[in-house]
Amino acid sequence: MKIGVTGATGQLGRLVVEKLKEKTSAENIVALVRSPQKAIDFGVELREFDYDKPEILAKSLAGIDKLMLISGSEIGKRTAQHANVIEAAKDAGVKLILYTSLLKADTSTLGLAGEHLSTEDALKKSGIPFVLLRNGWYTENYTGSLADVIAMGTLYGSSSDGKISSATREDYAGAAVAVLTTEGHEGKVYELAGDESFTMSEFAAEISRQTDKNIPYVNLPVEEYAQALMKAGMPEAYAQFFAGTHVSTEKGDLFYAGHQLSKLTGKPTTSLSKAVSDALSRIK
Ligand SMILES: NC(=O)c1ccc[n+]([C@@H]2O[C@H](COP(=O)([O-])OP(=O)(O)OC[C@H]3O[C@@H](n4cnc5c(N)ncnc54)[C@H](OP(=O)(O)O)[C@@H]3O)[C@@H](O)[C@H]2O)c1
Repeated sequence: MKIGVTGATGQLGRLVVEKLKEKTSAENIVALVRSPQKAIDFGVELREFDYDKPEILAKSLAGIDKLMLISGSEIGKRTAQHANVIEAAKDAGVKLILYTSLLKADTSTLGLAGEHLSTEDALKKSGIPFVLLRNGWYTENYTGSLADVIAMGTLYGSSSDGKISSATREDYAGAAVAVLTTEGHEGKVYELAGDESFTMSEFAAEISRQTDKNIPYVNLPVEEYAQALMKAGMPEAYAQFFAGTHVSTEKGDLFYAGHQLSKLTGKPTTSLSKAVSDALSRIK
């Protein structure tokens, strides 16, 4: 049983490969990468894989039984890129595809949902058995900017009291590996999110508690928040996109209470408190 992992040099893909090695022999794992120089220490077979090069994809998928398709990072190009991979998987006779979609992709107001839905649609039309791993937000999306938040003494956003059921990349990788290494998942749609949810005010309170500083959450109108992000150096398109995700947060798009992730892995997802303390230990 050969398992191929795309995006294996990314932050999520690396964790998937590492965790797969704990569950199955390295000989069964193929890292499908566009930047092999980033993967020299992986200890598994590497094959060239660039979503923009349809001519090489089927050959690189030869002999792969299960394919973990990690969504690409180039927003706007992904429908076509993922379609290239699905087409090649059909040609290569892949038996199961896992795709990292978006939490509640069919109802989400996030602008990102469209590309994920079109990929889900391409999978349905392909005839290849598939599993949808609809991943919620990464907790690292928040803890990644902890140093800046502490330096500013304030957490800004536009999410109001929207609840965020995020989980760490490690948690999502664990769920993916559970699905890749056990049977009976064909056709399943897993809505994956953290066991806990928090608001931005609760996130600010947790940072304050762990740093012994008073770091309040200040909710801004979305345009003002986008302007603040631009002033801090974020390119305009990204600032608008990022501020928009806060509006979707307020609408509940990042909230999910179904505990499907921890049911797959058999353990609770990483708590906000642990994620904050881990992030603080990295910046101290
Ligand atoms: N749930 C969330 O909060 C969240 C947040 C951000 C992103 N995402 C999605 O989840 C995916 C994985 O997250 P991540 O943190 O691992 O992202 P990441 O660290 O940016 O990794 C993205 C991976 O995709 C690969 N990739 C990008 N374009 C490609 C192409 N044209 N052909 C082949 N490979 C390509 C990259 O290859 P290189 O190493 O060669 O660049 C990298 O390995 C992202 O790509 C994005 O779709 C989710």
